Amino acid sequence: MKLKIAFSAPKPPRSGTVAVGVTSGGKLSPSAARLDESAGGALGRAVKQSRFKGGKGQILEVLAPAGVPVGRILLVGLGKPGELSDSDLEGLGGALIARLARSGERALAIMVDPIAGFAQDPAARAARYAMGALLRSYRFDKYRTKEKQEDKPSLESLSVMVAEPAAAKRAFAVLEKVAEGVFLTRDLVSEPANVIYPQSLAAEARKLEKLGVSVQVLGEAQMRRLGMGALLGVGQGSARESQFLAMRWKGAAAKKGRGPVAFVGKGVTFDTGGISIKPAANMEDMKWDMGGAGVVIGLMRALAGRKAKVDAVGVCGLVENMPSATAQRPGDIVTSMSGQTIEVINTDAEGRLVLADALCYAQEKFKPRAIVDLATLTGAIIVSLGTEYAGLFSTDDAMADQLIAAGRAVGEGVWRMPLAKAGEPYDKAINSDVADMKNVGNRAAGAVTAAQFLRRFVKDGTPWTHLDIAGVTWATKDRATVPKGGTGFGVRLLDRWVADNHER
Ligand code: BES
Ligand code: MN
Ligand code: ZN
Repeated sequence: MKLKIAFSAPKPPRSGTVAVGVTSGGKLSPSAARLDESAGGALGRAVKQSRFKGGKGQILEVLAPAGVPVGRILLVGLGKPGELSDSDLEGLGGALIARLARSGERALAIMVDPIAGFAQDPAARAARYAMGALLRSYRFDKYRTKEKQEDKPSLESLSVMVAEPAAAKRAFAVLEKVAEGVFLTRDLVSEPANVIYPQSLAAEARKLEKLGVSVQVLGEAQMRRLGMGALLGVGQGSARESQFLAMRWKGAAAKKGRGPVAFVGKGVTFDTGGISIKPAANMEDMKWDMGGAGVVIGLMRALAGRKAKVDAVGVCGLVENMPSATAQRPGDIVTSMSGQTIEVINTDAEGRLVLADALCYAQEKFKPRAIVDLATLTGAIIVSLGTEYAGLFSTDDAMADQLIAAGRAVGEGVWRMPLAKAGEPYDKAINSDVADMKNVGNRAAGAVTAAQFLRRFVKDGTPWTHLDIAGVTWATKDRATVPKGGTGFGVRLLDRWVADNHER
């Protein structure tokens, strides 16, 4: 069930849980001090008795205090107000939700006080708490038919109390649209591959039409006419027809000589590896090998939902990589839409084959001013960066810096990796003896040589960034605003990048 969120002017809560702030050194906020007074000093004593000193992210729970009608009070450590970023505030909102999810509590009220020293005004802070709470409250539970009521989350509603509820509501309305995009991405990557396959994923994207996104879907016959031999080769072993998805959100009129920003996603709805088949262990993870496409679709939803003033296109190659009698073989040579030929050494390096044609199509069709592609492209990026950062590869320093800044602002880290020019060693690693290139290098620098491969399909002069999101698309541990499972990583980052750099 979706968390119900409301904003209202402060009034003393009569039931449920109330969360109040405490700054570093254990200094009670005005709301906390008022509660403390009604509760006969119980809060002050609780702080004294514990290690809770109002440090950032600390939470102290006081159950059933006498003298106040609420069921429990959560003291929330704010640390030094001036040091709390928007992400920190979201993290606190998320932590509160996590704390109460299965507590038996149904309603939470967060009191947002006017406290000196904050960079954000109370309304902005209220919206951030709500955003963090909402993001953390996500659950993919549609297939759990036997969960007992007492194991399900109990928390149903959040009420954020702040002096200017209308302003908070307006700020949250925009954030909520972005959260809806994140949730769509999380849903899509969480769905198994018997439910989400190229045609059904395209059908999900089609639903964005009602938000004003134009959606075009191409089938195999049309792709063949376009010469997309690289993408089609990957899908040829599957019983599911490959699809090509192009979406456009025209939130701003096209400017002369300035095309849209383009987002390109890898949409491998299941990656068995093909004939170069993967080992059985953890192969189920490859249901989220469409994570790049999932982000592009979720991002389009976020941009359209908040009516972003940007001209943006989203382009995804949707295929299933299966071994079968019709599957492509190691050694096959395919001709990509760009005309360049590729020797397929390893059928498990399929994402780059799909992206080669998707990148080419995006440039031919839309003449974009900049391109960002996203792909769960390599295991090697997980070896390099783990689950902390996505790998960023870019032909453009300014664009790379913008994306790094956007990531920092929303708590989705990207770390820049090397990218070489044509003819330099990293690039030469994918030269083939029989075709223009091969689809894998040697074992060394696997994430970099994958990026080099993609670079060969981007025309000089178009700023381009590749994000390898293999390590950040799925989480096996809860984080403040991201429950374990599909993360939606990339939606907030790119929404922010658009907002800061491409909206007028
Ligand atoms: N989808 C995988 C990459 C991947 C691995 C994503 C683990 C998420 C978790 C990709 O298609 C792949 O198989 N890459 C190969 C490339 C290799 C054959 C050069 C890899 O990383 O092993
Ligand atoms: Mn693969
Ligand atoms: Zn893959």
